[in-house]
Amino acid sequence: MGCCTPEGYRTVFTARTAERDASRYRRKGLPGTARWLASRLAADGVRDQSVLEVGGGVGGLTVELLRSGAARATNVEITDTYEGPARDLIADFGLEGRVDRIVADFAERPDAASAADIVVLHRVICCHPDGLGLTEAACTHARRSVAITIPRGSWWVRLGFAAMNGWLRLRRIPFAGYVHPPAQIAGLAQSLGFRTEHRERGLLWESIILQRAPAG
Ligand SMILES: C[S@@+](CC[C@H](N)C(=O)[O-])C[C@H]1O[C@@H](n2cnc3c(N)ncnc32)[C@H](O)[C@@H]1O
Repeated sequence: MGCCTPEGYRTVFTARTAERDASRYRRKGLPGTARWLASRLAADGVRDQSVLEVGGGVGGLTVELLRSGAARATNVEITDTYEGPARDLIADFGLEGRVDRIVADFAERPDAASAADIVVLHRVICCHPDGLGLTEAACTHARRSVAITIPRGSWWVRLGFAAMNGWLRLRRIPFAGYVHPPAQIAGLAQSLGFRTEHRERGLLWESIILQRAPAG
């Protein structure tokens, strides 16, 4: 895994992060980019669809898609620190039995999860050195759509990531963030048979929803 060890992920994405994310979702709903993905996917139709969320953390976006009518969801998380608060959140919304949670590195073990209609990676590709591997695994698992949020490739975002990585190195935390070029990520998805359906660019993040092009 190069830069990032399981210990690194657990140091950055702690049980406290998980509690904070769950409590924020209960109080305020999803943050802006996740809200955009959820509302675009819902407008395109999530009723009775299956969802695979990779690196969904505590699972607010998964919960939102289930509340919009998705049939069931699987969340593959590289770290186990989210599992307790995620289970509580699922129970709070009465969604037990509709969510499977799997702890695995989806880039290394894509076969840990089955295919789904919709695959979501919200602010995940930037937390793994193998951005293209994660994208390819997402596309091969998606029967219909892939929804991705990644950092913009702008100079201020790259500067911010360089500063963050310098701080992590100083603290000897085995984790790093990556600005994988959005055009490369979208280009790979297109080469695997997807076309860009929606795109939104903010100051820091770029979100793309790709649909599998009809065969033939
Ligand atoms: C910045 S957090 C985002 C969490 C959530 N998607 C959100 O936006 O609140 C990145 C998440 O991706 C997970 N992650 C990173 N690489 C992963 C991989 N290869 N497989 C599964 N999860 C991964 C991390 O554990 C972390 O929960």
